[in-house]
Amino acid sequence: MHTEEILRRTFAEISLDNLRDNVRALKGLVPKKFFFCPMIKSNGYGHGDIEVMQVLQEEGVTQVGVALVEEGIHLRQNGFRHVDILVFGITGQHGERSMIEHNLTPVISSFHQIKELASLVPKEKSPYGVHIKFNTGMNRLGFEADEVKKVTDMLKEYPHLEVKGVCSHLSDGEDASFLDGRSSVQFRIFQKIATHFPKNVGLHIHNSAGFLGSVATNDQCWGKSLNVSPHLKWGVRPGIALYGVYPSLSPQDLAQLEVQGVRLKPCMVLKSEVVKYHRLKRGQRVSYGGTWEAQRESVIGVVPIGYADGFGRNFSNKGQMLFRERRVPVVGTVCMDYVMIDLTEVLGDNFGSVGEEVVLFGKQGAAELSVDEVAKTADTIPYELLTCIGRRVPRQYVTGSI
Ligand SMILES: Cc1ncc(COP(=O)(O)O)c(C=O)c1O
Repeated sequence: MHTEEILRRTFAEISLDNLRDNVRALKGLVPKKFFFCPMIKSNGYGHGDIEVMQVLQEEGVTQVGVALVEEGIHLRQNGFRHVDILVFGITGQHGERSMIEHNLTPVISSFHQIKELASLVPKEKSPYGVHIKFNTGMNRLGFEADEVKKVTDMLKEYPHLEVKGVCSHLSDGEDASFLDGRSSVQFRIFQKIATHFPKNVGLHIHNSAGFLGSVATNDQCWGKSLNVSPHLKWGVRPGIALYGVYPSLSPQDLAQLEVQGVRLKPCMVLKSEVVKYHRLKRGQRVSYGGTWEAQRESVIGVVPIGYADGFGRNFSNKGQMLFRERRVPVVGTVCMDYVMIDLTEVLGDNFGSVGEEVVLFGKQGAAELSVDEVAKTADTIPYELLTCIGRRVPRQYVTGSI
């Protein structure tokens, strides 16, 4: 936990209790023997990797995923010695050496990675657990599907590498519930790949969308009914859902999840304050380039958050914030450290108090601006918004819901 004094009143308020509820809800959907690997890369999607890991550990999670070796080392150095940390990113020989040193689990995507790792594993750490990734349509990382025989042949040469898991990644997990979706093509390819590996190897392909889409499809109870298609029995790597943000599923899938009682709780509220007010005459302009011009006498509030904090320039003249539980527009260009809002509708020609709270996303009293909605106004997605909240924005952990 952060213990240093928080000076800045622009901060991300985070509820670890909500996170815990989400972990329980998601984990509860997965039968015990299934592979369950929450993704906590990029500082736990902006929520704080250590704090998130602590909750996961308390909830009995035994494996997590990161993108970088450095992210794995950070977890190890903060005392998480026993959890299995899967490193999904490709790294060079130097990174592989560090991975082994810190007992991180490589997710292998290339032949030379197999060879390098095999040459680096010391006797006392053999057999060293690895996961093998296949490309089934995302065309990012992973061996090609038609390389599976070559992969298994090569692995036979290196018995000190032990395949613990075989995985792939969905490019369109949102369509996992459709029989004719792109995911279904990936599922079929992955299913064939799986037949080349022993039955005890963990198979995992689902991200939040694939996972929850599949849960929505099977109203019996996910993975438990006998006639489910095989992909329902594959392990899951939920990321965004863990943090209480729904993936973009179809309205039917979302309704089905609701029926099944799956309710995710957002874990973060991004807050700031008004540090100064201005009264503008009609025709006066705001911020760099004067891209917003007052059409009437206006009251403008100055909010000390900017693109250096992850509140990007795309919000210029587009974004909204909550002030006194009402939506107010962002006016003018977003600066590095500041952004201005038009408070005329709420305050008339009065000023509010210095230090009055502003919410950039999340709840303020009865009002709410979801991170999803806010992301859309800047043509982005909640993932980007959450992971780009800057290091200089303090994370303030609160008990209870938010
Ligand atoms: C390999 C891998 N698995 C799982 C996830 C989790 O995805 P999501 O946050 O959509 O659940 C990601 C995230 O990008 C990923 O890269």
